[in-house]
Amino acid sequence: MMESAVERVSTGVLKLDEMLHGGIPKGFVVAVTGEPGTGKTVLCIHFIAKGVEEGDKCIYVTTEESRESIIKQAAQFGFDFRKAILDRRLIVIDALMRPGGEPWSLQTLNPEELVSKVIEAKKHLGYGDGRLVVDSMSAFWLDAPAMARRHSYYVKKVLSQWGFTILLTSQYAITTSEAFGFGVEHISDGIIRFRRMVRGGRLRRFLLIEKMRQTPHDLRLHEIEIRGGEGLVILGPVELRREDVALPWSVVRRMLEAKKASELENPDVDA
Ligand SMILES: Nc1ncnc2c1ncn2[C@@H]1O[C@H](COP(=O)(O)OP(=O)(O)OP(=O)(O)O)[C@@H](O)[C@H]1O
Ligand SMILES: [Mg+2]
Repeated sequence: MMESAVERVSTGVLKLDEMLHGGIPKGFVVAVTGEPGTGKTVLCIHFIAKGVEEGDKCIYVTTEESRESIIKQAAQFGFDFRKAILDRRLIVIDALMRPGGEPWSLQTLNPEELVSKVIEAKKHLGYGDGRLVVDSMSAFWLDAPAMARRHSYYVKKVLSQWGFTILLTSQYAITTSEAFGFGVEHISDGIIRFRRMVRGGRLRRFLLIEKMRQTPHDLRLHEIEIRGGEGLVILGPVELRREDVALPWSVVRRMLEAKKASELENPDVDA
């Protein structure tokens, strides 16, 4: 049997497309996950800017930042979202739930309202390939993390029938309950994970493609940078060295000191 070619959608970041064997398969739902400030929103902005450039119908749902904030951030990377909105190529739906009811705002953070607003926006933009970002999905189950998977599944099931390729961001917090970051990841066709690390007193950011169905994707952790004028830049693959995963020496020393102290206090206890 002949392998049928997978139609791919550019992420807007050339090197990431290469890592993805040409891009995200059209129609996929991809989870974009990672800690705060690691680059999720920046990637979503690239994805939408690329869609605008290609004439796709683009919808950006923002739950934690205002529409203005997304437009400003995009402008810092050279993307004119305001023009895209005026040209009817982009609708930014915000969920700050201001009283007064601006037409492209969500009044509640429930998945049914999300889905119906997105469909309304797609109808408004017209026929054609669609790109959708929901940044973030986690906002829809803040009060009920156990609903994460059910809500994600519902959104995927309904919206994938509307010809969208979808990025869903999810905050991944180790401190909160384990159910938190998940849900989105389990229903998604792909997972792009952002990570951060402080080394030598400096914040470093990384990206890893953890899953992409139907794709022989790059398996290596890549260091990234976010730059004014450019946005997300992929520097290249990194080898995780021992010092990257090991505890800092100051912490090890304190642990050893504590162990020694407890041995002195309790000489009978086996070390
Ligand atoms: N113009 C710029 N020049 C350089 N760095 C920038 C610029 N704009 C944003 N950044 C960097 O990008 C970071 C924000 O990244 P981003 O908004 O994508 O994070 P995020 O993963 O979406 O986080 P959160 O979960 O909090 O929404 C900032 O903290 C800053 O370090
Ligand atoms: Mg963000």
